[in-house]
Amino acid sequence: MMNQETIKTLVDNALAAREKSYCPYSGFAVGAALLAADGTVYTGANIESASFTPTVCAERVAMFTAVHAGQREFTALAVVGGKKGADVSAYCAPCGVCRQVLSEFCAPDFPVILFDGNTPKIIPLSTLLPASFSKADLV
Ligand code: THU
Repeated sequence: MMNQETIKTLVDNALAAREKSYCPYSGFAVGAALLAADGTVYTGANIESASFTPTVCAERVAMFTAVHAGQREFTALAVVGGKKGADVSAYCAPCGVCRQVLSEFCAPDFPVILFDGNTPKIIPLSTLLPASFSKADLV
């Protein structure tokens, strides 16, 4: 179970990271904050491209930054998203590609924290990505 202080820290970090979003095409700004097992928080925001498909989501920016820093174990992730320049007002769940990337490093019970501007909602990774493909399938 996550304590309230940890949840608030991660949501606040995700909201701050969202300010760094580069999203001139969608106008949808996303922020993510990933807590590593050693207590370090890694953040990310979505970064878009004029050719659209190279766009990278906030969650993957946070995860790849952390993995490149040598981290391999993670405790929780907070994600916030909404119209750029406006306050967050609805839950923003990770896209399918990000769910797959999270499953590479995070356990089925890994908590994904969503925030609608009022109430954090915690969803286990296995609920977001059931019956997933994993390294165990690569036999
Ligand atoms: N996006 C994220 O960064 N994370 C999500 O969970 C959903 C979508 C980004 C990608 C794109 O820059 C914009 O939001 C609209 O899809």
